[in-house]
Amino acid sequence: MDAKFSNEGDSNDRLYTELSRVNNELINTQREVVQRNARLERAEEALRKAHGDLERQVQERTRELENTLAAFREEVSVHQETAQKLRKLSVSVLRIQDEERRRVARDLHDTVGQTLTAVKISLFMLENAMAGYPQTASRLHELNDLTDQALQEIRTTSYLLHPPLLDEAGFAPAAAWYVEGFNKRSPIQVNLQLPKTIRLPGSIEIVLFRVLQESLTNITKHADSATVDVLLQVEQNVISFSVRDYGTGISAERLAKMNGSGSDVGVGIAGMRERLKELGGRLVIESDSTGTVLKALVPLPKAV
Ligand SMILES: Nc1ncnc2c1ncn2[C@@H]1O[C@H](COP(=O)(O)OP(=O)(O)OP(=O)(O)O)[C@@H](O)[C@H]1O
Ligand SMILES: [Mg+2]
Repeated sequence: MDAKFSNEGDSNDRLYTELSRVNNELINTQREVVQRNARLERAEEALRKAHGDLERQVQERTRELENTLAAFREEVSVHQETAQKLRKLSVSVLRIQDEERRRVARDLHDTVGQTLTAVKISLFMLENAMAGYPQTASRLHELNDLTDQALQEIRTTSYLLHPPLLDEAGFAPAAAWYVEGFNKRSPIQVNLQLPKTIRLPGSIEIVLFRVLQESLTNITKHADSATVDVLLQVEQNVISFSVRDYGTGISAERLAKMNGSGSDVGVGIAGMRERLKELGGRLVIESDSTGTVLKALVPLPKAV
């Protein structure tokens, strides 16, 4: 074989070797690509599955939250309805109480009062008839005095339950009468300032009168104040009725609860608040260590 052929044969061999190496590399690379694709597909599948699971979980959680929210809304509305019903109920209880007081006051005055007056007249006649028997006459006189006292007590109880002046002459004279009696009966001295000629609707007058009664009762029970200033004013279509004492006051913490959520109060303040709310008004209580002022604010109806 000559040299030329021998050289050609070598280079063919090298070429072949190189080609088969490249081919092997290609095959390896292809295998790697296939393997990577398979891994990628598996990863994609896992991702899809995880995504699906996550979506299901989110949907489930959202449903749960929606159900909880619906239950919560339902509970709130039931609570609001109950509070509304309770408020209506307490207002109608207060109204029935007012009617009942008015009826009992009238009955006491008209039945027991009339009977005692008749007893008094009979005792007076008997006393005269017994003029010749001084001891008996004196006993009859004593009986007449006792009957008088009973009559007076019945009249006071009846008037305190529902002063007839309130219906006949209005709040100002009824309040003046009530305060005069209070000043006589109690060591506390009340100073009353009222507009001279003011006549308000009956529904407002009875509420103001009950506020006056409850405030003075509260001051007697809780305040330890020697004097009280009561003031009724009408300014800018609002009736402002305030009762100020100079007693122990109410702690800031308690006052915040009483004025805020309306909790931590007794029947007295709750009743005043409901009565005023029914008239479209409100009750404001201010207090510190120098005393307490309770303000009843009521919008003045246009017709007045
Ligand atoms: N003028 C006042 N000075 C100091 N504390 C007061 C005064 N008025 C009310 N309070 C406080 O506010 C509380 C609530 O008063 P509220 O009239 O509602 O109830 P009460 O007087 O205790 O009982 P009741 O249900 O018989 O009226 C009282 O217990 C008292 O502690
Ligand atoms: Mg009270």
